[in-house]
Amino acid sequence: FAVGALAGVRVMVTAGPTREPLDPVRYLTNRSSGRMGFAVAAAAAEAGAQVCLVSGPVHLDTPPGVTRVDVETALQMYEAVMARAAGTDLFIATAAVADYRMAQPAPRKIKKQADELPLTLVKNPDILAAVAALPDGPFTVGFAAETDDLDTYARGKLEAKGLDMIAANDVSGGRGFDVADNALKVFWRGGSLSLPQQPKLQLARELVALIARHHGGCRAS
Ligand code: C5P
Repeated sequence: FAVGALAGVRVMVTAGPTREPLDPVRYLTNRSSGRMGFAVAAAAAEAGAQVCLVSGPVHLDTPPGVTRVDVETALQMYEAVMARAAGTDLFIATAAVADYRMAQPAPRKIKKQADELPLTLVKNPDILAAVAALPDGPFTVGFAAETDDLDTYARGKLEAKGLDMIAANDVSGGRGFDVADNALKVFWRGGSLSLPQQPKLQLARELVALIARHHGGCRAS
């Protein structure tokens, strides 16, 4: 692991879940703990990067030397990321962004009434795809949590979202989400590499070293 491998590089990391309100007291979310993203932010800072961590609601301490921006919803995460994307050399999207939000969150607490309560959801913007589509945007790294056909889906996302790299975790059988250890298979256009099962900080260091080797040409001025 090379200290200084990302010296002077401006890195933005998204982490954690998002929280989509149904009404003033309820929300939709997912099991993401934010640990993988916080480990990536910590590893990037150790490697000398200036790190901005845009985080959904998590119970984690900010890693040393990292600037943190807290958000709740996918739309807030989108705004926070897009506002800072122009000043970013390397964007790593680890957040488990909710795919959908309520079309219209109820302004008052939803009352218990009929046996069925249909909710209308609308799609959230894809933050990673939006950053990858920016002209002269940062080097982009996505994550993919898959339960089957890891290679096919990961390579599909790399192409569909126009990414430079994608790190896929196998989340079948409870692996990957809200646990201390993880393993990744990383894909880019010219190849792939498997990073074995290990604690998330060690894994993040290996991933950051790999990204540092591939993102050449995106150095801060
Ligand atoms: O398409 P899928 O959600 O599986 O893609 C996962 C990748 O895309 C992750 O890197 C995640 O952080 C990012 N993503 C995003 N905004 C969304 C959905 C996913 O940035 N709305």
